Amino acid sequence: MIKIAGIDVGNDSVKVVVDGSSRPILIPSIVSPGYERHILQEEDSPLKALDVQIRSPKLKRSNQRYFVGMLAMEDQDNSELEETDNKATSDQALVVALTALAYAALADQSYPAAGSLEEVEYIIGTGLPVRSFVAFHSAFEERLTGEHEVAFLSTPGLRGRTVRITIRRVVVSVEGAAALYHLATNDQLQVNNDEIHNGCIGICEIGALTTDFPVVKRMNIDNQFSTGEQFGLAAYLDSIIRDVEDQFGYRFPSRAKLIGRIRNREFAIQRVGEGKADIRPIVDMYFSRAAQKLVDLIRKRWKKYPDIECFYVLGGGASALRSYIIDAAGSMRLRFEEDSEMLNVHGYLKLAKSKSGYSQSGAPAN
Ligand SMILES: Nc1ncnc2c1ncn2[C@@H]1O[C@H](COP(=O)(O)OP(=O)(O)OP(=O)(O)O)[C@@H](O)[C@H]1O
Ligand SMILES: [Mg+2]
Repeated sequence: MIKIAGIDVGNDSVKVVVDGSSRPILIPSIVSPGYERHILQEEDSPLKALDVQIRSPKLKRSNQRYFVGMLAMEDQDNSELEETDNKATSDQALVVALTALAYAALADQSYPAAGSLEEVEYIIGTGLPVRSFVAFHSAFEERLTGEHEVAFLSTPGLRGRTVRITIRRVVVSVEGAAALYHLATNDQLQVNNDEIHNGCIGICEIGALTTDFPVVKRMNIDNQFSTGEQFGLAAYLDSIIRDVEDQFGYRFPSRAKLIGRIRNREFAIQRVGEGKADIRPIVDMYFSRAAQKLVDLIRKRWKKYPDIECFYVLGGGASALRSYIIDAAGSMRLRFEEDSEMLNVHGYLKLAKSKSGYSQSGAPAN
């Protein structure tokens, strides 16, 4: 059976939603070289220990072993994506994406494994930033399409299972615009928000490495006014990590570790010895700076295109910076949404369903 899925290959995290299953899967975009690890106590969930070997003709080095997501987060040799990486061509992005699709296939099955090799076929919806869409959407589509194999090694509950993923079709959309499509439609793809559907809407979608500013008019992307910036929250997180290390001698092993603390509002760090230190002032300084820069960009765009009726601020960066952006925006009204880092992936799934003409049962819709 063909599954339809939305996958957001984010620079910070890869998100997957499979049609018909309610729970989205999120895996941090971090990878480190895999090895035979000593397991004193098995992790309590497969997502905490994704240890995989991946075979794919699209990877420069096929058949390598990787630790992916949380398992790589503490590793000294881990790598997170950088500004110079392009998610349409990066091997690291593909490794996390394939791991996520393989995990989603196994997580979705309520019955036990049929054998050691399991097969899954996908039609997927995904997306690229405004500025790389034109140049890279075909390359991205080509990279994902085809056959790939993911074997789970020491992952608890999935040890020894191999998934052959065949991606039949890829529908690539534009980041931010897909999020708006999700906000304008219900699960049956019917319009349930006339204001968004008929209006001229500005979007500022703040990711980890890119921030997209699509303008959507009557649900069509405006070619002239849509644009994007090559920066996101990650640059500010890197600065915070550097300043915390300089001031307190404490090094966060990854951005993911830092953002985890910020999300839980745990601003006290343990210093070597008995003292604790408060990193809140450093976080406030950089996040206020980021917010000011984004508000300036939004104001500039709105002035350039006064037809815009309202501006949505979306993406994980909007969740992180919300209160700082509201402060910086003064009287300019901006709209925020809950779970805004998950909006694109829901939009990708809906766009894949709508453009591939497949209904939920996997049969072509009439
Ligand atoms: N609920 C949240 N609260 C605070 N910060 C968050 C939240 N969700 C995500 N973030 C942070 O916001 C940033 C952007 O997250 P997001 O998931 O939108 O990025 P991405 O889609 O992976 O990246 P990109 O769009 O550049 O590919 C990341 O640094 C992430 O850690
Ligand atoms: Mg994103």
